[in-house]
Amino acid sequence: LDLYKNPVNKGNITKPEIDVSGGNPSCGDQVEFTMRIKDDVIEDVKFTGSGCAISVASSSIITEMVKGRNVQQAKKISREDFFDELGNIIQTRIKCALLGFMVLKQGIEAYEKNESKPTIIKGIVI
Ligand code: FES
Repeated sequence: LDLYKNPVNKGNITKPEIDVSGGNPSCGDQVEFTMRIKDDVIEDVKFTGSGCAISVASSSIITEMVKGRNVQQAKKISREDFFDELGNIIQTRIKCALLGFMVLKQGIEAYEKNESKPTIIKGIVI
């Protein structure tokens, strides 16, 4: 609840190397991540969006997990790593917890496939 009320890394980065957004159509929750990458390192990452407490808090947590890592390290963060960081999430809210994780990871994967050129992806459906 603390991270929902006061999320870390909330906001937008201007001229980001990665701009990725997506949502969960069943509830309408949306999240967008912007990332600054220099020399393959994710120097900064911010997110915006509207969603339930779990989706906002977990989006905030994944930004902390990738900040300062290189692209390959960030890509390797698994669901298990992510859930270890999150702690216990009740089974019916797993999709809420994964919203930010999945959107951000798809952005990083697309950036790598795009040979590290600025990458914009909108409308990922989770
Ligand atoms: Fe929509 Fe949680 S209710 S992501």
